[in-house]
Amino acid sequence: MKLLVTAGPTREPLDPVRFLSNRSSGKMGYAVAAVAKARGHEVILISGPVSIEPPDVQVIQVTTAEQMLEAVDKNVEWCDALVMAAAVADWRPAVISNRKIKKAEAAPVIHLEQTPDILKRVLSKKGKKLYVGFAAETENLEEEATRKLHGKGLDLIVANDVSASDAGFEVDNNRAILLDRSGASEALPLMPKKQVAAHILDWIEEHAAFVM
Ligand code: C5P
Repeated sequence: MKLLVTAGPTREPLDPVRFLSNRSSGKMGYAVAAVAKARGHEVILISGPVSIEPPDVQVIQVTTAEQMLEAVDKNVEWCDALVMAAAVADWRPAVISNRKIKKAEAAPVIHLEQTPDILKRVLSKKGKKLYVGFAAETENLEEEATRKLHGKGLDLIVANDVSASDAGFEVDNNRAILLDRSGASEALPLMPKKQVAAHILDWIEEHAAFVM
């Protein structure tokens, strides 16, 4: 199969030296890419700025949500499954200063605007491809994830509670619940992200058979 995987955060610039971003390390998406490659799948990994070593697959480096949208849009037709593990920034400064905002100036008021929702923007290209999203929540995990599964037209959503300190952002382990559009769910115990990736790939391989 051909897998298009996104990973890491995006950075949304405020001025030439500052940006808004989030705590995503890229570990979950990189694990999906690495496990997929090890299973013999073709992988393109679209990555935001991270400090971990990429697996041995084609990597497209991006910085902003807009650039990630462009890269996903350009490559999504190639794939059989899109795995959006990236923690795309939801907001970006509406105005980017072309010079460094000086500390001596009055504290700036930063107006934010929404970034494009990448999954929604490429939904029209879905066809028989499998689309997998992630939901990082701090409350009402299953309810929020189910809303996103249907709201974004996904086949599978990987929900994780990012308020726990032993799982989720930055760390090597994750405690995830896989929820699919048929209503099936699988709650995984705390395990290394590579093992979570293996469960996600099991699901993809099993369900791809029905759509290919
Ligand atoms: O809406 P929320 O950001 O919680 O949804 C998470 C899922 O949506 C993730 O799979 C993420 O990669 C994707 N996403 C996106 N475009 C955005 C924000 C999130 O595709 N602007």
